[in-house]
Amino acid sequence: MSAIDSMTLSMAPMEGITRYLFRNAQAEVFGGFDKYYTPFLSPNMHHHFRHRESDDIDPKNNAGLTVIPQIMTNVPEDFLWAAWECAHLGYPEVNLNLGCPAATVARKTKGSGFLTDLPRLERFLDAIFSETPVDISIKTRLGWADPAEFDKVLKLYEQFPVKELIVHARVREEFYEGEAHRDIYEHALLETSLPLAYNGDIFTKEDALTFAEMNPRTTQLMIGRGMLRNPAIAREIRGGSPMTNAELREFYQRVHDGYLAVMENETHVLFKCKELWTYLITQFPEEKKAAKALKKANKLAAFDAVVEELLTSAPLSHR
Ligand SMILES: Cc1cc2nc3c(=O)[nH]c(=O)nc-3n(C[C@H](O)[C@H](O)[C@H](O)COP(=O)(O)O)c2cc1C
Repeated sequence: MSAIDSMTLSMAPMEGITRYLFRNAQAEVFGGFDKYYTPFLSPNMHHHFRHRESDDIDPKNNAGLTVIPQIMTNVPEDFLWAAWECAHLGYPEVNLNLGCPAATVARKTKGSGFLTDLPRLERFLDAIFSETPVDISIKTRLGWADPAEFDKVLKLYEQFPVKELIVHARVREEFYEGEAHRDIYEHALLETSLPLAYNGDIFTKEDALTFAEMNPRTTQLMIGRGMLRNPAIAREIRGGSPMTNAELREFYQRVHDGYLAVMENETHVLFKCKELWTYLITQFPEEKKAAKALKKANKLAAFDAVVEELLTSAPLSHR
């Protein structure tokens, strides 16, 4: 048995991309993930979810998948309201977002912004952990500006019964740039009694296996952009076969048709498909012309024609 066998593999939450249509298509065509986190739900003082949020956590849209709803707020009452809603729907765990770097969020002391006010975060955690009806896991960055902030941040989390602490090993100011600080994670893993999960820059099967060998006490590996580039990555990590062109066609078709069914405006669908292909195109590194054509397309039909040509004639790189 190798180290990776004892770790859970999860799909990272990615706002605007990994909602239920995407999760179901990935699970049906490729599988390999043990669990899926929803992009953040943003409960407000009026205590109702937006339509797209309720759809995303509706159990009938998530049949057969292990899904963990993610919540982002700095108001304990709003968090607890959302946690109760999730509990009523049958979810045994919710995840708290302490990582989102967007200025609009961070400025309001939410997501990664909460890491700039640890006394307030402590009061928030006190309140939610004392009244939550479900388990709470946390997805966090190392800090705001300096990776060394993680010492204090981790000590704070250690005061609470955190189900699992998922560490995206960057600070807010790094957004998604540069290399993740694995050394800080590795150090924390040796020091803490909390169950630690790792997230950041797992782009290939080899990345995952090497990471697991080096950090065998890790409970879970969470994969984001590596899965957007190669939606079969989790299956591969589990020893399965790499993605084929036919599978990618099937996956794309499902996501594409799903968007067409729920979005009225075809231009919005085009926008979504373009975003998807900014990641998928990395699997066709030779296809510079097609990459340009995908960027330029201003009608969905033209975009799909380029995709079809690519899937028919270009080999996947399997990097
Ligand atoms: C487009 C996009 C949307 C994201 N949305 C969320 C989100 O809703 N919640 C969250 O916790 N992280 C979000 N993230 C961060 C990812 O979950 C993950 O932490 C990050 O991409 C690092 O992991 P990776 O190197 O495997 O991609 C988002 C990332 C991207 C690129």
